[in-house]
Amino acid sequence: MQNNRVALVTGANQGIGLQIAKDLVAHGFTVLVGSRNLERRGAAAKEVGQDARAPQLDVTDQASIAAAAERIRKELGRLDVLVNNAAISNTSKLPGMSVQEYAKSTRPSNVSLDEVRTVWETNVFGVLAVYQAMLPLLRESSAASIVNVSSPVGSLTLNSDPAFPSHKSFGPVYPASKTAMNAMSLAMMTELADTSVKVRICAPAFTSRFRNSVIGPTFSPV
Ligand SMILES: NC(=O)c1ccc[n+]([C@@H]2O[C@H](COP(=O)([O-])OP(=O)(O)OC[C@H]3O[C@@H](n4cnc5c(N)ncnc54)[C@H](OP(=O)(O)O)[C@@H]3O)[C@@H](O)[C@H]2O)c1
Repeated sequence: MQNNRVALVTGANQGIGLQIAKDLVAHGFTVLVGSRNLERRGAAAKEVGQDARAPQLDVTDQASIAAAAERIRKELGRLDVLVNNAAISNTSKLPGMSVQEYAKSTRPSNVSLDEVRTVWETNVFGVLAVYQAMLPLLRESSAASIVNVSSPVGSLTLNSDPAFPSHKSFGPVYPASKTAMNAMSLAMMTELADTSVKVRICAPAFTSRFRNSVIGPTFSPV
């Protein structure tokens, strides 16, 4: 059985997931750097540090989720932290298209259902599928945490306010997928209320690659 606390971060080969993985290693965790891409996961694991492992994990692929869970059970015996970070924002935003143009082309009245389904497959069903597969491993921990990475653009309360910066671009693709993920998180919290597994949602601020292009530099997260 592993002495270090064990964490799995999905979509950890770049961006926020990669940084979370590095921070967890710095705090003494053994980190599983989840990544769907073979090359990127090797490079990310090296960058994260020597006590990191890198399971192939595509959150839309049930077989890869099951294989990752089996590997964690065999090698480490349990999970203490699961960070559901992997997400996509769209599949059809053309190069050069502004976020505002994309929002106009993905309103409830004209959005492609395939676009909605594909993004929700990762951001909503992927989170639920990983939760189901990893929960038995989290139950092996004396104090486990699930952290679902959301976004202020998914908040119904905030986006109901016309003055909220992302109010006008609230739409059925990425924003509503984060709303649905928040709902799934509440359902998980309810299910696990009487257990030692805690469920949390975090909502990062926009990183530099979005900060100025989406809704302006004055946006602040909740
Ligand atoms: N960046 C922001 O400003 C911001 C703000 C608020 C919330 N968030 C949230 O923070 C999280 C990370 O965002 P980010 O900006 O770091 O995104 P990112 O740089 O685009 O990274 C997303 C990660 O998810 C992975 N991924 C996508 N689909 C996957 C799948 N089917 N299976 C496994 N991994 C998959 C990507 O893998 P590939 O490299 O293979 O594509 C990548 O590693 C997301 O949940 C996002 O919604 C981000």
